[in-house]
This record gives sequence, structure tokens and C-alpha cells, in this order.
Amino acid sequence: EKGGYEHFMLKEIFEQPKSIHDTMRGRLILNEGVIKMAGIWDHIEKFKNANRIIIIACGTSWHAGLIGEYLIEEYARVPVEVEYASEFRYRNPIITDKDVVIAISQSGETADTMAALKLAKEKGAFIYGICNVVDSSIARITDAGSYTHAGPEIGVASTKAFTAQLTILTLIAFKLGKHNGNLGNADFMSLIAELDAIPKKIEEVLSSTHELVQNIAKDFVGATNFLYLGRGYNYPAALEGALKLKEISYIHAEGYPAAEMKHGPIALIDENMPIVIIAPKKGHYDKIVSNVQEIKARKGKVIAVVNKGDTQVSAMADYVIEIPETSECFSPIVASVPLQLLAYYIAVYRGANVDQPRNLAKSVTVE
Ligand code: M6R
Repeated sequence: EKGGYEHFMLKEIFEQPKSIHDTMRGRLILNEGVIKMAGIWDHIEKFKNANRIIIIACGTSWHAGLIGEYLIEEYARVPVEVEYASEFRYRNPIITDKDVVIAISQSGETADTMAALKLAKEKGAFIYGICNVVDSSIARITDAGSYTHAGPEIGVASTKAFTAQLTILTLIAFKLGKHNGNLGNADFMSLIAELDAIPKKIEEVLSSTHELVQNIAKDFVGATNFLYLGRGYNYPAALEGALKLKEISYIHAEGYPAAEMKHGPIALIDENMPIVIIAPKKGHYDKIVSNVQEIKARKGKVIAVVNKGDTQVSAMADYVIEIPETSECFSPIVASVPLQLLAYYIAVYRGANVDQPRNLAKSVTVE
């Protein structure tokens, strides 16, 4: 059932071209130039009249939510807040019937997310679910929703569910933006054409980086700490890369917005600190170049995720992982793939139980 792979996690990483494709199937209709999403369309007035969208989630799904904020604010120009479900539910949040609350949950059973949703519903908000498990508790209590059709995810570390969540959030942002006029037709058309080609790019990334990342992983089996840095859309991708590493390899890792480095974490940097830096060409590249200079001046070990043909960051980095160029909004999907592989192989070489890491459960049904 692992399809010839050693672990479910690796199988699920490799399934991503298909799972992303499945998530878009029947929704992204490229030749008609439309995005069809009944859950959104049937309630378009709710979205149109919303004062704001509040995204609630936990863990990896919360990271997807953060990227959702960048997407929806950029393309639909609707204000978005992203909250940990556990914080939201206990802080007496201001919620009105003009709010749309989107819950993101792979399992659809996460206790804190469920409780936060119930609270939002009581206060009159319109509640929308992005779940992977069909007919799960969250899917059932929401007013509407979109399933991520990623297929069953068995590995505790979420991989294909995350990229499927990003796919749904991208579709929602483009659909709302097109509808409310913030995203013009020409831009909409070129963005959806690019989205349609993402599974192909993921396939390319899997084949071009798999062996390379395995080799890089060998050099970091003994690491005790890691920093992950990114800017813009790739700041949440850095958080997600760090979470993946810590949950399956038990190496302490932190994700940071690259510019925050100089407000504290830079003190940690010496020749023993590996730093994964996500540096695609589109998205504050020049700023990232300076961040890498600052790290190298302190002898940090840089593992850089860059676009093919990159020169500046690559010249300074100790390890270079190339991914194809995309518009900025798609880069977290593409950049996450080698980071999943990196976490996976470091954990495997450390002899960890990657599919069932200690102390963790696939769905967290207690608060
Ligand atoms: O099922 P959910 O998406 O609600 O789960 C949320 C988190 O428990 C989950 O993403 C967790 O952080 C993963 N193990 C991360 O890989």
C-alpha cells in the first residue's frame, strides 16, 4: 500500500503532482477561462459583503492559512486575519455576521479548530471549511466548503494535504478577485494558466532535486538546530519547512521572516548553524541577497532554494537547490517540495519513525 516507497510520507510527497491536479480538477477550467467552485459561488454575496475573512487552523494548516492571507489580500483585496484556533477560541474574539470564517483542516477533526468554528457560528459568522477528509466533523458543521481532493494522507507529517490546501486557497483568491474586479481578465488568464502547469513543475522538482536533497541531508544528520528563512509568500513556507523538520527528525528548527533575523536570531549564527533560505527570483530577491551576505559574514551554513539559473545567492550558498521560476504566489507550493524531502531524509538517516513520530497523532482530537 506504500506503492513501493519506504514510507507513506515519501509516497505522499511524490503524489503531489497528482494530488494538486485532482484538487483543481473540475474547478479550474482553463479553456473556458473560469474557476468553478460551487461552495463559493452559491454564497458569493457572503464573500462579497464580508468585512473580512478570518482563517482559523492549527499546525501545517495554519501555515497554509498564512499563505492564504497573502493570496486573498493580494488578489481579492479583502482583509484577512489568520489565527491559531486554540488562541482564537479563548480570547473572546470580535466576530460578527459580516465575517466569513474559513477553517482549514486536513483531518476535519481537530478539536481546537472545531471549537473555534462553533464559536464563530454562534456569533453569526458564515463558516467555510477546507478539509481533506470527506464528511469529517468540520466538513459537516460548516455552512459550505471545498474539499481538497488530496486523497488519504497517512504520514503524520502533512505534505500533499498542505499543497492541496494552497491550491484551494489560490483558486478562492483568484475567483474572488476576478468576481470583485480586483483581478483583471488578462492577469486572471495568465495566472490560471500558470496554476494549471504547477503539477508539471512539481514533477520536475521531484525528479531534479530528489537525489541532490538526499545528499545534502547526509551532511546534517548531526545538526542540533536549524533556521528557515523566507520573505513574503515564502515566510510561511519557511515556518512550514521548520515544522516538518522538527516533527519528524526531532532537530530543533525555527522559521522566521528573513528580515526579522537581525532582531534576535542572528545572535545564533555561527559555523554550526544551518540556515535554509528560500530565495526565488520573484519576491524580494535583493533583500534576500543581503540577508545571505549577513549570514555568510557570520559563517552560517546556507542551504538555498533558488530559481534555475540563479547566480547571486548561489555564489554565496554552501548548498543550492534549484526550482523552476514561477509567479511569486506559486513559489511556496514549489519551494515546499524540496523542504519536505530534506526533512524526510534527515529523519530517515537519523533512524526516526517518520510516518509516526513520537508524541504525535495524525489528528489531534483533544485540545
Ligand atoms: O488535520 P488538521 O489539518 O486540522 O491538523 C492540524 C495539525 O495538527 C497538523 O497540521 C500538524 O501540525 C501536522 N502533523 C503537521 O505536519
